[in-house]
Amino acid sequence: MGELRNLISIHDLDREQIDEILDVAAKMESVSVKRSKDLESKIMAVLFFEPSTRTRLSFESAMLRLGGSILGFAEAGTSSAGGKGETLADTIRTVERYADIIVMRHPLDGSARVAAEFSSIPVINAGSGSEEHPTQALLDLYSIKKLKGKIDGLTISLCGDLKYGRTVHSLGMGLSHYDVKINLVAPQQLRMKPAIIDEMKKAGVEVVQVDAVKEAIQDVDVVYMTRIQKERFPDVREYDKVKGRFRIGSAEAELLRDDAIILHPLPRVDELSSNIDHLPQAKYFDQVYNGVILRMAILKMILG
Ligand code: NCD
Repeated sequence: MGELRNLISIHDLDREQIDEILDVAAKMESVSVKRSKDLESKIMAVLFFEPSTRTRLSFESAMLRLGGSILGFAEAGTSSAGGKGETLADTIRTVERYADIIVMRHPLDGSARVAAEFSSIPVINAGSGSEEHPTQALLDLYSIKKLKGKIDGLTISLCGDLKYGRTVHSLGMGLSHYDVKINLVAPQQLRMKPAIIDEMKKAGVEVVQVDAVKEAIQDVDVVYMTRIQKERFPDVREYDKVKGRFRIGSAEAELLRDDAIILHPLPRVDELSSNIDHLPQAKYFDQVYNGVILRMAILKMILG
């Protein structure tokens, strides 16, 4: 594969590149435990203009496990961009003088691409607006492959907020390189944009809109649940109409096949009951660890 320089969008990767990233990730499983000094001389800057727990901390954990160092901010309010109105371009031109790679999360669509244009060092998109979250999609693909042994041939239900959720947009595009069937399960107001559905169909994926919870859960290999993205609703009354509409609790989980898996990018609100956490199908906390593994692979491939 050609050199990986930035990771801005899942759209920039073809199947060969995705498969190579998943293969490198598999090799990171043992490195993660032993630790390495591969990136000892490297510094990673994390610029988070939006809240995060897993994405930021797993990037930091990944870099530390590879022997590298980290600096940055976890809240825009403490930076000049948030507190003093500094432009993104100036922030990037500054940080590129402190670090070897930038990992950035930002509320605006397209922000990561803009940052990469200004940056002389590689940029990784850790979530931008409601459209892109490429490293989450890759860790989701890695989780599916690790837990199910393959991606081709699977039926996957993407559930919850398919309108504002960036993880499902990126994952849908990532999955479209594989021979899969995708069920889209969302309240009417939160359905996936037709343009993304068209892209998946054009890639040869069978895409079905499903309304009933039962249909979404029964006879599928992967249930990928997501949080309703309250903070992205223009009007909170619209959120009130859809909140709590689709939940998996003990009763719904009974419908799952024994070999099915439930994934969730987390954080959850109430769409997955904690009553099901003990079930063998509940894999969302294993998925969290896969985030460290996958991000180690990305850092190694870009900086190694
Ligand atoms: C997601 C995000 O930020 O898009 N979180 C994550 O990175 N795991 C999902 C969400 O916030 O619901």
